[in-house]
Amino acid sequence: RADKTQQLIRGAAPGYNDGLIRVGMIQTGKESDWRDANTNDYLNTFTKERGYDLIYIDGNSSSERQVKAMYDLIQQKVDYIILQPIVETGWEDAIHAAKEAGIPVIVADRKIAVDETEYVSWIGSDFEEEGRKAVTWLDQYLTEQGRENETIHIVLLEGTEGATAAIGRTNGILHGVEEHPNWTIVDRGCANFTQGEGQTYMENLLSKGTVKDIDVIISENDNMIFGAMKALDRNGKSYGPEGDIIMISFDALHESFENMIAGKLHATVECNPLLASTVETVIEELEAGREVDKIYNTEENIYTYENAADYIDQRKY
Ligand code: AHR
Repeated sequence: RADKTQQLIRGAAPGYNDGLIRVGMIQTGKESDWRDANTNDYLNTFTKERGYDLIYIDGNSSSERQVKAMYDLIQQKVDYIILQPIVETGWEDAIHAAKEAGIPVIVADRKIAVDETEYVSWIGSDFEEEGRKAVTWLDQYLTEQGRENETIHIVLLEGTEGATAAIGRTNGILHGVEEHPNWTIVDRGCANFTQGEGQTYMENLLSKGTVKDIDVIISENDNMIFGAMKALDRNGKSYGPEGDIIMISFDALHESFENMIAGKLHATVECNPLLASTVETVIEELEAGREVDKIYNTEENIYTYENAADYIDQRKY
């Protein structure tokens, strides 16, 4: 590690914090446990000991705040900007300003809707593929249960509107639903990836009483399904492999493995929050004057109540 750090330390540019590489990082906020794992990964990677001066900015779930942060970092003349956008839109001017200032922007986790020449690389998950994995698993599970011809009533809890993770997962799921004429979405709506909103959404849905049958809940992240579980508990509904409602979510947090083992969750599609090492590799390549890829996709799996016990110990977040 010492060699690597040495290699990263710049020729002590005057006033630039002893030659450390100054990295500005714009985070979405603290909406989920996945996000905490993702933030900690950056904080543990971009340390002074490793040759970086990290300016971490919490977007606080506000796109305006994120855009303002981009202009602040440009003014501070940082060496690199890592952008983890809340939503895809609204970035054209700020990204262009960074390019004009000669500051490379590395986009991670979610995407931005600008020409790809405006930023260096994007690092993250194939969210649509994640959505497809969820419905493929559901299809197989229903077939195993002999329910492939039954009418299946699905509730879809969606993530933040305009966020790549929500757009991609929703597309993948809806595609899968379209392929099954006997599957029907009886209710869908946004709960912003938070546990609190997941609970409120499900409580409202159950109290309205308009949806009579729920066979499946697909939640676009783990925290929203944890919230939904609380609402189901309070309303005396049974769910999970040991209950009535089929429960599927995304992220694959440690707590989801616990829930799968406890018979409360059927499956969770992995979304890897540990993106910092790939971001660091991109910075190292740029420092060395080498070309980098435009897209780096993370490798991901799906875990179920049947194999959760085999993997729980490996899951650190
Ligand atoms: O963009 C990744 C998503 O954002 C994760 O699924 C979710 O938990 C997070 O808040």
